[in-house]
Amino acid sequence: MSLRKDFLWGGAVAAHQLEGSYNVDGKGISVADVMTAGTHGVEREITDGILPNKNYPNHEAIHFYDNYKEDVRLFHELGFKCFRTSIAWTRIFPQGDEDEPNELGLQFYDRLFDECIKYGIKPVITLSHFEMPFYLVKKYGGFRNRKCIDFFVKFATVCFERYKNKVEYWMTFNEINNQTNYQSDFATFTNSGIVYQEGEDREQIMYQAAHYELVASAEAVKIGKEINPNFKIGCMLALCPIYPFSCNPKDMMASTVAMQRRNYFGDIQVRGKYPNFMLKYFERKNFKLDITKEDLDILQQGTVDYIGFSYYMSFSIKASDKTNLEYNEANDLVKNPYVPASDWGWQIDPLGLRYTMNWLFDRYQLPLFIVENGLGAFDKVEADGKIHDTYRVDYLRSHIEAMIACIEEDGVDCIGYTPWGPIDLVSAGTGEMEKRYGFIHVDKNNKGEGTLKRSKKDSFDWYKEVISSNGKKL
Ligand code: BG6
Repeated sequence: MSLRKDFLWGGAVAAHQLEGSYNVDGKGISVADVMTAGTHGVEREITDGILPNKNYPNHEAIHFYDNYKEDVRLFHELGFKCFRTSIAWTRIFPQGDEDEPNELGLQFYDRLFDECIKYGIKPVITLSHFEMPFYLVKKYGGFRNRKCIDFFVKFATVCFERYKNKVEYWMTFNEINNQTNYQSDFATFTNSGIVYQEGEDREQIMYQAAHYELVASAEAVKIGKEINPNFKIGCMLALCPIYPFSCNPKDMMASTVAMQRRNYFGDIQVRGKYPNFMLKYFERKNFKLDITKEDLDILQQGTVDYIGFSYYMSFSIKASDKTNLEYNEANDLVKNPYVPASDWGWQIDPLGLRYTMNWLFDRYQLPLFIVENGLGAFDKVEADGKIHDTYRVDYLRSHIEAMIACIEEDGVDCIGYTPWGPIDLVSAGTGEMEKRYGFIHVDKNNKGEGTLKRSKKDSFDWYKEVISSNGKKL
């Protein structure tokens, strides 16, 4: 086995992190529009609406909304076969609960997809990438409310109908499993629009919201396949393998439990039902979840075609004194002494990608699509006016090598690779501009200053050659 001839090399972004124009052509406010800029170690603030004198980096982002033609031309120059982005829900349904979609929003994605297709670049589309309408948060409590299933399904249906001849590859919810880190305000807010109240059982609320999203996802898959049976619709999981810290059987068991708890979403989206370990867990915790018979039927009817996943880093876990059937993502993870970390503390582990691909393929036997991978790093414009980003090339090269070995030597079916942020954009986690992933530099700093001018980094030519040689020249 080697890389397919039609291997989907490309790059991945999300609407809110690059489009800007947050209130143009009828767009509504999304959850990303009410998050300020943080830094490493300082969380982004979630504000109650847009407040004066706060810095909201997604409002302008990198102005892709107006600049998309130039940017897509650069992606074409890189040789992209595909381009993963999302459709900003609030461009299509500004509040989220309207009867009719916003035509101007739909037209923007017509223009963008046509521009990609003109160059033979396939759009790969995420429907909900951390940008649900803020109005749904305020009026309905986000995905703690069952009504959001219908709102999402309506949004998905409108997009499927409108772009059925332009888009083949879809994903429903970006990194749907990130919210298992329910101790963080950020994860559940961005995924599900949940704002926790004092004293609430956060974990139970997260599992309820996640259930509604899983139902919404399955219903969308089912409808999508009715609209166009050739659609390929995937899930999108944030895959950070959680290694046992040692060969102590207790650490091994802790790792197994943590992997189950973090990744059960995939089990449901692929197999169409809750795994027993989750049902037992809900029972043990005495969670009273609203899961109906109809929901369970829908889960079965809307299983996915492929596994989209992001891979940036691996975690490791040490068993604690408490029962090893518990897992608390905020407290139980420990530093892995065998791997280095990025400036933001993300553990760099290329072999972990091969491990992850094997883990996923063994578990599901479905094609894999690596829809995010990359290194967030500080870049410096050198005296010659260029950015010599060897660290980025080193990171990507080692991960691509691991991916190719996995395909060629382990026989894992992988259809594509779209590294995160081929053009510098706003960081989702911190709101910074200077946590950069791009092959294309954008002149803008954390304070929002800069000309927004695009220029090529050294990694641009490197990645171009990787694509043109179909992974042979690394
Ligand atoms: C993933 C998200 O979690 O990681 C992206 O899908 C995000 O939206 C990417 O940008 C990198 O994270 P960050 O925090 O460095 O932007």
